[in-house]
Amino acid sequence: REVLVLNGPNLGRLGSREPDVYGTTSYAGLVRRCTELGGELGLAVEVRETNDEGEMIRWLHEAADRATPVALNPGAFTHYSYGVRDAAAQRTAPLVEVHLSNPHAREEFRHTSVVAAVADGTVAGFGIGSYELALRALADLLRD
Ligand code: DQA
Repeated sequence: REVLVLNGPNLGRLGSREPDVYGTTSYAGLVRRCTELGGELGLAVEVRETNDEGEMIRWLHEAADRATPVALNPGAFTHYSYGVRDAAAQRTAPLVEVHLSNPHAREEFRHTSVVAAVADGTVAGFGIGSYELALRALADLLRD
């Protein structure tokens, strides 16, 4: 089964971006960890990143039209994009919100997620491990 891992703005810069907050694993490393674990779970994982809100929304439409499960790290879109939220709400398959950091332990503006209410659940605060837990959650949801 195909699964999309969708990453919003600045996540393509993983590894060099604020490593004290987001870790030193590169974006390429993230892609590798997700596709490898996908293989173990029997999931064909495709990982994408965009800095563009419209592109993220179109990918969510694509997932809705094809009933593709999604692990979504909306990056900063999490906190203000009703467009991304409304696109995620159209999902026809499981969708898990993912964050590397724990937004609740950070600045006030990160405490709100406009996406959380339309996701099955959220995994946050475990670095790249958040993505692995999200993929395991998707695998479980798909099995049920
Ligand atoms: C993030 C948390 C967001 O607050 C931030 O804007 C990001 C990354 C995370 O994965 O921890 O870009 O989604």
